[in-house]
Amino acid sequence: MLARLVTDRQESTRYSVEDVLDAVIWGEALQVLRKLPDEIVDMVFIDPPYFLQLPKKRLLRWKAKTLVEGVDDDWDKFESFEDYDRFITAILREVRRVMKATATIWVIGTYHNIHRVGKIMQDLGFWILNDVIWVKTNPMPNWLNVRFTNAVETLIWAVKDKGVKRYTFNAEVARRFSRGKLALSVWELPICAGKERLKDDNGEKLHPTQKPRALLERVILVSTKEGDLVLDPMAGTGTTGVVAKSLNRHFVMIERQKEYVEASLERLKKETSQVALQLGEQE
Ligand SMILES: C[S@@+](CC[C@H](N)C(=O)[O-])C[C@H]1O[C@@H](n2cnc3c(N)ncnc32)[C@H](O)[C@@H]1O
Repeated sequence: MLARLVTDRQESTRYSVEDVLDAVIWGEALQVLRKLPDEIVDMVFIDPPYFLQLPKKRLLRWKAKTLVEGVDDDWDKFESFEDYDRFITAILREVRRVMKATATIWVIGTYHNIHRVGKIMQDLGFWILNDVIWVKTNPMPNWLNVRFTNAVETLIWAVKDKGVKRYTFNAEVARRFSRGKLALSVWELPICAGKERLKDDNGEKLHPTQKPRALLERVILVSTKEGDLVLDPMAGTGTTGVVAKSLNRHFVMIERQKEYVEASLERLKKETSQVALQLGEQE
């Protein structure tokens, strides 16, 4: 089935699986999630706002004194930690409802948010299977030279509750991403750059936090089977759906920014036929 756009409207009260299968839904994550049936998805990937809380003043690079760019988009702004926690809690509660009993969930974040997200997940009853550390082989330097260059992101991988035993873990695939014989919880991969990185009309990054396809390839290959349904409720440029489709999985993506929805649809047309599997095996 071809990927398609669904524009969420207030008056649409419920969606069936058929309504949203392989669709990019333009809308508010919480509002859309509330309209989805119970227990329909096999895997969830969430790359939520980080709540970076950048200072209002413009930061200059150490030595070079050029301007430091960060994620200063409105979608990353919240009033307070409490406000952020409320947002994440509401999303995760609905996501848990739409997960099948055997489904797993991945949430990615940095030190800014991932510890809060982990606590919220445990409080909601999720059972954490792993925290996978993505080591970035080409991280953004700490331009101010005032602390370590942050070179990792954490992916929390969990099931709905402690009793879930029959989830998908493709151990053989996981081992291929590791050094040696064990399927280690450390993945070394570059950040999204070069031709893969989407640009706007001015040649600037279209999205500040586009994830590399190779990261999603690992996530999807390790934790799903062909034909499974993968949900990404804050999909950005649609990396999750692009990789899911390339690997013969189904997807549902939700995103509230029109320009990212359009970029996702374009990618789904262009990239899924050309994505050669870059399993990114570690040396
Ligand atoms: C960290 S980015 C995801 C990037 C994505 N993984 C990619 O590879 O492009 C988070 C996305 O969530 C979207 N977002 C934030 N709040 C949202 C909400 N309430 N409903 C839907 N989308 C939301 C933002 O517009 C942003 O594109």
